[in-house]
Amino acid sequence: MGRSVFRLSSRRLASLIAAGCFIYFIISFGLLNSDRNAIKNNRCVDERSGVRQQTTNDREDDVMCKDGVCERRPSPELQSKFKSGTWNSWYNSPGYHKHYDVNCSGIIHNNQTIIRQAYEVVRDTQVTVPCDETVTNWTKDCPSYRRHRRYPLKALSEEELDYPLAYIITAHKEAAQIERLLRVIYQPQNFYCIHVDTKSGPAFHQAIRNLAGCFDNVFVASKLENVQYAGFSRVVADINCMRDLVKYQWKYVINLCGQDFPLKTNLEIVKQMKAYHGHNDIPGIYPEQTQWFVGRTKHKHKVIRGEVIRTNIEKPDPPHNAKMYFGNAYYAATREYVVHLLTDKKANDILEYLADSLSPDEHFWVTLNRFPGVPGGYPNSTWASNVRFIRWTNSDYYAPCVGKYVRAVCVIGAGYLPYLSSQPHIFANKVYYDYDPITMQCLEALLDYRTVFPDALSEYVHDYPVKNLFP
Ligand SMILES: *[C@@H]1O[C@H](CO)[C@@H](O)[C@H](O)[C@H]1NC(C)=O
Ligand SMILES: *[C@@H]1O[C@H](CO)[C@@H](O)[C@H](O)[C@H]1NC(C)=O
Ligand SMILES: *[C@@H]1O[C@H](CO)[C@@H](O)[C@H](O)[C@H]1NC(C)=O
Ligand SMILES: *[C@@H]1O[C@H](CO)[C@@H](O)[C@H](O)[C@H]1NC(C)=O
Repeated sequence: MGRSVFRLSSRRLASLIAAGCFIYFIISFGLLNSDRNAIKNNRCVDERSGVRQQTTNDREDDVMCKDGVCERRPSPELQSKFKSGTWNSWYNSPGYHKHYDVNCSGIIHNNQTIIRQAYEVVRDTQVTVPCDETVTNWTKDCPSYRRHRRYPLKALSEEELDYPLAYIITAHKEAAQIERLLRVIYQPQNFYCIHVDTKSGPAFHQAIRNLAGCFDNVFVASKLENVQYAGFSRVVADINCMRDLVKYQWKYVINLCGQDFPLKTNLEIVKQMKAYHGHNDIPGIYPEQTQWFVGRTKHKHKVIRGEVIRTNIEKPDPPHNAKMYFGNAYYAATREYVVHLLTDKKANDILEYLADSLSPDEHFWVTLNRFPGVPGGYPNSTWASNVRFIRWTNSDYYAPCVGKYVRAVCVIGAGYLPYLSSQPHIFANKVYYDYDPITMQCLEALLDYRTVFPDALSEYVHDYPVKNLFP
């Protein structure tokens, strides 16, 4: 389990984990400067959404279509295309996201010459992200959009059909990155709830609504929050989505933010969920009861000028003798856990108790998961988890970041892919479209390759899925 466990003092870890998705928030909400009312894309391009017809390579790839459902015949010739750097990724859709002429196989297999060349391509190009208005345009004609972006129309295997997943995506900016994330995790048997921050601009709201409108199993949360950094609204956003999602049948829910990206295919994720054996993967510990820690939950907090500030007002002890844990804001949780969370009186009392704490999302999910009798729960205090790869500055457990550090978290560059592709986690944080689009393009290519050749996983990750995380 060691590889999934952060070895940090809880104080250091606290300051780091709090960063999470919100590093992006701090920057884009302009907490560091004055403009905090609107969220805008800094750089984007208004390209005509000229959609080219599918490439001629398709025919070479032995594509079989029946009733409008196409698949590729897994032949040795097709497989060798990945290794030789000529793989035709189905996530590459001409006219949508810019496709870079780089050798993803060479990058992932750590060919330094090819990685250097890829960096030159990024350096020589003004990296731009399609504007929110452009994404709105893409999704005006849903049948055409679904076809050109090659969304799967039916489950890729019986195993996946029998194991639907639910996703919560909290989004606040850059519809193009959200679109790209949705495309790569989309399967028709899954359910996707997207929570859009009320502070986001109308163009972003419109783009996400349009995108969701193209699918029966993708929707915008029926209730939207003004998400406050380190505040309760972050938890409420997830809960709003949970309420919408429990109307459907699925096995596990996974929460994501817009800067997460998958490291595993849908089938691979299903296999990890099964290996949890009904447990929730909600990492977190019962920390040393220092004043610093206790203050996070024991003192009332108030939002003052956009910041969550601790007051001197002490609260009574938590209800039901609940021990306050401290953990990660990311999780994979069973449907039973979610139903319990939404319906159990004690769970609700704990939620209300934590409403005025600092970063309730780092306390509530894990505290409830450790509370006696909660479905999928697990009493041990542990950071063991496989939901998210995050490379913090001050833990040298993982290889040094190749990319850049933003507020103590590695923003992943393509040069990190040889290492990252060997990691067992199902998702990675953080990926920025406008920082390194090749990271996304090559992860997409690798996942596309493993979708056609599922056995290829073992060439990259040993001992997957991770078992016995929760003995
Ligand atoms: C891509 O990289 C691989 C691995 O280094 C190499 O074998 C292959 O020849 C490269 N392909 C192209 C088209 O450069
Ligand atoms: C790395 O890529 C270059 C350019 O494609 C190729 O000539 C070289 O043989 C590759 N090196 C290895 C070790 O695969
Ligand atoms: C959206 O499409 C309309 C026409 O279909 C076009 O006039 C407009 O320029 C497009 N906008 C963007 C941002 O692509
Ligand atoms: C988890 O908790 C159980 C029961 O309290 C204990 O027996 C076991 O040793 C613990 N495991 C770990 C890894 O701490």
